Amino acid sequence: MNILVVGSGGREHAIAHKVSQSPNVNKLVVAPGNAGTAEVATNVEVGVNDFDGIKALVLKEQINLVVVGPEDPLVNGIHDFFLNDGQLKNVPVIGPQKAAAELEGSKEFAKEFMMRHNIPTAAYQSFTSDNLEEGYAFLETLKPPYVLKADGLAAGKGVLILQDLDVAKAELKAMLLDSKFGQASATVVIEEFLDGIELSCFVLTDGSNYKILPTAKDYKRIGEGDTGLNTGGMGAISPVPFADSAFMGKIEERIVKPTVEGLKKDNLPYVGFIFIGLIKVGDNPKVIEYNVRMGDPETEVVIPRLQSDLVNVLVAMSKGKLNEIDLEIDERAATTVMAVSGGYPEAYEKGKEITGVDTIEDSLVFHAGTKENNGKVVTNGGRVITVTSFGDNFKEALQKSYQNIEKLHFEGIYYRKDLGFDL
Ligand code: AMP
Ligand code: GLY
Repeated sequence: MNILVVGSGGREHAIAHKVSQSPNVNKLVVAPGNAGTAEVATNVEVGVNDFDGIKALVLKEQINLVVVGPEDPLVNGIHDFFLNDGQLKNVPVIGPQKAAAELEGSKEFAKEFMMRHNIPTAAYQSFTSDNLEEGYAFLETLKPPYVLKADGLAAGKGVLILQDLDVAKAELKAMLLDSKFGQASATVVIEEFLDGIELSCFVLTDGSNYKILPTAKDYKRIGEGDTGLNTGGMGAISPVPFADSAFMGKIEERIVKPTVEGLKKDNLPYVGFIFIGLIKVGDNPKVIEYNVRMGDPETEVVIPRLQSDLVNVLVAMSKGKLNEIDLEIDERAATTVMAVSGGYPEAYEKGKEITGVDTIEDSLVFHAGTKENNGKVVTNGGRVITVTSFGDNFKEALQKSYQNIEKLHFEGIYYRKDLGFDL
């Protein structure tokens, strides 16, 4: 069959890499892709929100299945676009329909969903410019730190965690009245601060059945010891050592099952990946957020551990037959270490030549922000390239990722050297 992967990051390279290993694939296309996906697929320069361009591509390449990587096109309704188009309606899309993608598109929607279905999460209230004063009053009832979340998509920047009440009030005002995050902060969710260690759980669903993929932990801050600005993710580890079977049982019973059942009860059509951001408070899991896609860089450790044919899994999902699939998972640990451009997550330069990839033999190298330029591979984003390794435990795997990332070079290269420090 012919498969299209939509997106251009490390997540999409890892998905395309796995899909390309399936004997069931004839043609693999990535839109728009990067220099890494070009090695395992054909890149086509079509943007992820260019639905008409994607339609033309699907028809031209006779695509039989579409896997959507990032959240943007899902929240914008790419799945519904296919269903409403006479020529596309029989092409399955992996990714929820627009109504269900609101789980990531609106924090308020996600909180209401969790309340309705008794899914453990932080206590909260939401506010708009109409009830700013009530927002101040609610903040006064809370203890610091204060957690303020822009309701809509804000490219991972819409969450503020503040120690000082006056600063929190000023930020609430800036979000609601001065559009600090544009339309995304027209509504703000204020929630109770949860103190604990974070992990992510990934679920596949066909709308009725589900399968739980390996857990992962990512490292979001730019600086060692989890300091400095937030990034898209500086590396990841799978599995998460503290997520033992008793804890996983709680996640499945209290969170995964009610989530999948809740989607069904609420008539939210969902065929795709559910990424559940969790925090372990004491011995109990609570949901911090839902994402309606795989994580990046978590995909770069979760998908390599999948031994089953990913295409068979995706086809089963699209047919509502996920119950007929058994996931085979590599028992070994996987780690990935992300190399980023100097200056990221603030201003950085692009176009720096990347060398050394060919010298890495016993790790997988996934491209994030790269492109080909006159026969050279150059940097094309903040997060550039990531090195995934296996080991009997995460420390062994990390050692290999660190040995190999040293073989990569580009001007300004930076990566965190302390992943796993908190485990
Ligand atoms: P989100 O975009 O919702 O994942 O939030 C970004 C980050 O903020 C999370 O990964 C957490 O580290 C932190 N965070 C969000 N909500 C809370 C909360 N209620 N308590 C503590 N930390 C939080
Ligand atoms: N690594 C976090 C995310 O993909 O949202």
